[in-house]
Amino acid sequence: MEPWIDLGSSADWINLGYVFSAALFIFGLKKLGHPRTAPTGNLYGAMGMLVAVITTVLQMGFTTGIEWVLIAGGILLGGGIGYLMAARVEMTGMPELVALFNGFGGAASALVALSETWRWLEDTSTVPDGLALQVTVLAAGLSALVGWVTLTGSILAMYKLKGGVEIFGKWIRTPTWGPSWLNIVKVGMLVAVFVLIVMQLGDPTNTTYLWGVIGLSCLLGVVLVLPIGGADMPVVVSLLNSLSGIAAAFTGFIIGNSVLIVAGSLVGASGLILTFIMCKAMNRTLANVLFTSFGGTDKETVTRTKVGSDADEVAMMIDGAQKVIIVPGYGMAVSQCQHQVKEFADLVAEKYDTEVKYAIHPVAGRMPGHMNVLLAEANVPYEQLIEMDEINSEFPEADVALVIGANDTTNPAARTDEGPLAGMPILDVDLARTVVVIKRSLSVGYAGVDNDVFYMDKTMMLFGDGKKMMTELNNAIKES
Ligand code: TAP
Repeated sequence: MEPWIDLGSSADWINLGYVFSAALFIFGLKKLGHPRTAPTGNLYGAMGMLVAVITTVLQMGFTTGIEWVLIAGGILLGGGIGYLMAARVEMTGMPELVALFNGFGGAASALVALSETWRWLEDTSTVPDGLALQVTVLAAGLSALVGWVTLTGSILAMYKLKGGVEIFGKWIRTPTWGPSWLNIVKVGMLVAVFVLIVMQLGDPTNTTYLWGVIGLSCLLGVVLVLPIGGADMPVVVSLLNSLSGIAAAFTGFIIGNSVLIVAGSLVGASGLILTFIMCKAMNRTLANVLFTSFGGTDKETVTRTKVGSDADEVAMMIDGAQKVIIVPGYGMAVSQCQHQVKEFADLVAEKYDTEVKYAIHPVAGRMPGHMNVLLAEANVPYEQLIEMDEINSEFPEADVALVIGANDTTNPAARTDEGPLAGMPILDVDLARTVVVIKRSLSVGYAGVDNDVFYMDKTMMLFGDGKKMMTELNNAIKES
């Protein structure tokens, strides 16, 4: 008897699963565009990945058969390690974790592509119908290039974000080194990789070329990231993120998995868009970042001095201020004082009817949207978070610019043509009537450049940990 409803073939259901997961990825990305909807966007992305994994496992069950123990072991081991890393990481360590995950993504794609191609090269009769061996060899070479560059580049980027590595109890600073001749080496290595891929096309079953591609790509990742430092790190991290997606897309092509091609392309494209946004924020071109070493200088030694103020003095000055612009930076993330910052804003708004706004620099902190995430956690209304381009014209009419753990993003040295910050747009805090800076010392920020703002006559330095100083300031305002 004919069934009432034709449920179609298993291939139809597999395709439907993939389309559904791709749709979840796209809706997720859309929702990530605004801080209010970003958590839902994350959830959609995770659900899309779950649907993709289940569909792939089912597809394997229907077609090639499945090693359940291997799959379950992989999920448990990978999931366990991922959970532990994510649960244990401090908020300030998130950018390093993201950099490392980019690298793992690149390596995973390259390894999957390698194992599949290996099988085909050992026995060319296993190459799927309709796929020319040369095409798969080309895709495998490109996947190896992008994947291994992403792995080694991301590991180096992670240590650059960390600032260094501890070996036998000794702290060794991650070097930033890039003489101009290194650019010729980079281009030479890239050309050599392409030559090896072309040679492999002529002799597909000879795997020596593939090993050459892998070795050179690993070196290329290091050589590409080594000269980049200081304020340009956000660009390189988002570029590596994009590359991890491109590697996944190549691998999706090799193993014939459409959802991997879609997901990889989405990561590649969105990462590239973010890279260009970061370049714009730094006032650099991508070529500029990749081929000009801005961060090669050592951190400046601070020799000037400045007498610090105390919370009572600052509270007295803030009494009656009509407009305060809060400028958060990496130090707010370190001290986790976002709740005290919100309390301050509520206090002055209630007590003195002060207008409070937050100035958000695109590369403040250590990851895109770092300040937005922290302030959202403290329930700061989104309308009060104002982007740099918009808020800069308001500093001259602000009574107080309250800088909390921000340094490079306010440093007027960026207005000159020299040094690691050269040309980076900054928040014009020095134009406010009074500047209050909360940080522990006069020390330099991430790019290592001394900040003139600290030494201006109209600047009051509140030396100390962000949370401690904000609490003292709030108490002083309550008592005044
Ligand atoms: P930074 O220039 O990094 O300066 C942060 C300041 O916070 C430091 O000078 C430090 O001074 C202070 N600080 C640290 N711990 C503190 C604490 N517990 N309490 C109070 N202050 C504390 O910050 P920024 O202005 O946000 O600039 C970000 C920099 O990072 C830029 O150069 C950017 O290019 C780079 N970067 C950004 C990203 C992304 S995507 N956002 C990624 C990589 C790199 P003390 O030691 O004196 O306290």
